[in-house]
Amino acid sequence: MNNFFFKCIVCEKEFDRSEVSYTCPACGNNLEVLYDYIKVLKQFLFFSTTGKYAGLIWKYLPFLPLKEDEVINKICIYHTPLVKSINIQPNLGIKGLKLFFKDDTKLPSGSLKDRASAVVAAYALQNKKEKIITASTGNAGCALACISAMVGVKPLIVVPRSAPEAKLVQITVYGAEIIKYNGSYDECFEYVLKLCEKHKSYFNRSTGVNPFTREGKKTVSLEIWEQLGNKVPDFIFVPVGDGNIISGVWKGFKDLYFCGLIKVMPRLIAVQSTGSNSISLTFSEIKQKLKGGHKLSELLSVIKLKKVKSKTLADSISVDLPRDGYAAIKAVFESCGDVVEVTDKEIVSAIKLLASKEGIFAEPAAAASFAGFLKYSITHRRVLENKKVVVLITGHGLKDISAISKN
Ligand SMILES: Cc1ncc(COP(=O)(O)O)c(C=O)c1O
Ligand SMILES: [Zn+2]
Repeated sequence: MNNFFFKCIVCEKEFDRSEVSYTCPACGNNLEVLYDYIKVLKQFLFFSTTGKYAGLIWKYLPFLPLKEDEVINKICIYHTPLVKSINIQPNLGIKGLKLFFKDDTKLPSGSLKDRASAVVAAYALQNKKEKIITASTGNAGCALACISAMVGVKPLIVVPRSAPEAKLVQITVYGAEIIKYNGSYDECFEYVLKLCEKHKSYFNRSTGVNPFTREGKKTVSLEIWEQLGNKVPDFIFVPVGDGNIISGVWKGFKDLYFCGLIKVMPRLIAVQSTGSNSISLTFSEIKQKLKGGHKLSELLSVIKLKKVKSKTLADSISVDLPRDGYAAIKAVFESCGDVVEVTDKEIVSAIKLLASKEGIFAEPAAAASFAGFLKYSITHRRVLENKKVVVLITGHGLKDISAISKN
């Protein structure tokens, strides 16, 4: 077992494992998981030189809060392709741009959420948790259901009844228990919190409250770094709802940095839907206040995340109140990144372009990152010259065909 401890994203206090259930005991915000990085590096170099778990997510076990046991061997998740753009990049006419797509549609349940669910499910089993439960817009539920099938347990998934049909079918066919909730994702989230208060043996995987989902999602960064020949890209475009994927992407590079394996960091561009833009609005407010000389850490503890009434066809990023919003905003500022908003129309065009020119079929939320890149590439042509850019494609198009068949 890797020794780890927690640090609060907002108040930055540190806690021992034994002091924490889910969130910060001091201020209630989300926690980050930190390790002894000398040990992490030593173990990672051993894994790399011996070829242990080569090609599998478990190559990054030294970076995770898990031990090596039979549970790990049951969860089979391979690295996903980092695809160089063949047809789109030359048409953009940006000098020296190198454009890549990180294709996480290829994961077992078809979304990046498999990375998080693999780590949470393994943690739950290794720590004798009785039942895993999660609120989900759809994909986290599919992922948890899929991984649970691999390890032979039955989780409880709470999703909005309005989630795309394919995602509801996926959850059921993997054999999970499902509650199709009459309400939004935000209401599902609150309902799961209540269930966990009532049933103390439940282990809540919901995004944000569970500090280990970010740990799983960060493996995408470790892969990108290795696939680029141990190089860091200049930019990464990430679709953002709750903000846990983007904070995971940042955590991956931070861990590499803490190990001394990299010396520079990428700039992260968060892409939100105009119909679900809480992080974008809050980011702008903080950016304004930073100009007035305030410190980011002070602002994060006083500024409330803007609550919106989300409405977008990109269901996976349709969130009223982002559950990992502060970590996401921190990641964008720390990386000298930015936030871009895209409309549903721009998302639909991006789906079609990506599928027809590169052969990658993304669901709306997953194509939002590409739509954001296209928008950014118009306004920031010079900034992107001679840069290596990765666009994260986080979920498969077949998960929600209604979005595209109607538009
Ligand atoms: C396909 C896809 N893309 C992007 C996201 C957004 O991730 P986050 O909510 O962590 O910002 C999700 C979350 O459900 C998703 O399923
Ligand atoms: Zn705190």
